[in-house]
Amino acid sequence: MKTSLIILAAGKGTRMNSDLPKVLHPIATESMLVHAMAAGATLDPEHTVVVAGHGAEQVSAAVQAYDETATVVVQEEQLGTAHAVDQARAALGDFDGTAIVLYGDTPFVSPDTLERMMGAAEGSDVVVLGFEARDPGRYGRLILNGDALERIVEFKDATEAERAVTLCNSGVVACKAGLLFDLIAGVGNDNASGEYYLTDIIALARARGLTASAVTCPEEETMGVNSRAQLAEAEAAFQARARAVLLEDGVTLQAPETVFLARDTVIGRDTLIEPNVVFGPGVTVESGATIRAFSHLEGCHVSRGAIIGPYARLRPGAELAENTRVGNFVEIKNAIVSEGAKVNHLSYIGDAFVGASANIGAGTITCNYDGVMKHHTHIGARSFIGSNTMLVAPVHIGNGAMTGSGSVITSDVEEDALALSRAPQVEKPGMARKLVAMLTAKKARMQRGS
Ligand code: UD1
Ligand code: MG
Repeated sequence: MKTSLIILAAGKGTRMNSDLPKVLHPIATESMLVHAMAAGATLDPEHTVVVAGHGAEQVSAAVQAYDETATVVVQEEQLGTAHAVDQARAALGDFDGTAIVLYGDTPFVSPDTLERMMGAAEGSDVVVLGFEARDPGRYGRLILNGDALERIVEFKDATEAERAVTLCNSGVVACKAGLLFDLIAGVGNDNASGEYYLTDIIALARARGLTASAVTCPEEETMGVNSRAQLAEAEAAFQARARAVLLEDGVTLQAPETVFLARDTVIGRDTLIEPNVVFGPGVTVESGATIRAFSHLEGCHVSRGAIIGPYARLRPGAELAENTRVGNFVEIKNAIVSEGAKVNHLSYIGDAFVGASANIGAGTITCNYDGVMKHHTHIGARSFIGSNTMLVAPVHIGNGAMTGSGSVITSDVEEDALALSRAPQVEKPGMARKLVAMLTAKKARMQRGS
């Protein structure tokens, strides 16, 4: 079945008390809007239309960054959810498949639930996603007649008896696009809020003799975010679920509650994650790796058998091959570290290639930035870079070469050569003792005030 997504993201989110549009607030390092788009993307939609309003420019940039094929339409005035959906009409053109309406501030609707809605849409003209609410509060209520959905009543417009219903509206709707826009054309705003309610399409469909039904999902999936407190709750809920999934998948987390994952973190089986590790976006860790305590990883790949940290920082473009070692206080950015290479202590390796089995001594820095441009450093296989070597890029160290510790390497070093670039050592016998005597006498004179 062909699908298109309509994602509502025009609301202001006043209670966030923020300059950032609500839907751009991040959960697990990615905006709520991207979470919703990613869930919808699993249906392989023909069109994705995001309805923006408040902060439309920023929302548009975020949408394009995630999916440049998505369309953003602007709802100038927020007149209600039906009016919002109607803004997508032109963008969907003559699309004749099923449209799914999602909310940009409801990030956790699962791909599985969306699949079930698509399934239900084959047997029913309009499908609504409902959930049993522990505290139904101000949600719209689904009014059923047997299995058939008769209408949705908004809290403000509901009678006491209707408010007692605990089956609530998540806002997610699936309906043939043509019919959806047709029904919306009949929605008015004569209600307690003076808004065009998308929820009214159910009663309108039923009045035409069409069918409507509800699919239900766990309440966790419909969790919406309206405040910073709810954002923090949503983050905690996401992290708890993501950690549980990793444990189930055979990853060891020694202290799960201290490990923070991104939406797209992938970790292989039998990998060990020590406490207090933070994953930014775009990290893949293969099976059988070890990420030691207090490491921070982002936009990187860690291969089987690698041992990272403690206190390591892997930044975007760090590619660590099998059995590599990256130790404490080492930062790696945009660099390939080949099989068996070691960077164990206090180093910065950026814009670089490190060959297989190379050994990078403590305190080595690739000086990649000249203040204007970034330059590349090549470190050959099996080379031995002495401690505290400054590799001033662009520079090429041949295979099997060595640099003496403390060297500042500004020219290429050929294969198997030893490069030394530091002041020769001079020795002055007895000078240390004389110096101390001289300084001690000086201090005594100063204390006497003479
Ligand atoms: C809506 C539903 C309610 C449901 C609840 C679930 C309607 C009339 N009511 O109520 O049944 O239980 O969601 O959370 O649909 N938006 C726009 N443009 C607008 C209005 C809203 O883009 O003109 C967006 C908002 O940014 C938000 C979503 O649509 O992402 C829902 O709007 P909101 O005002 O939160 O609706 P609720 O009153 O919560
Ligand atoms: Mg709401």
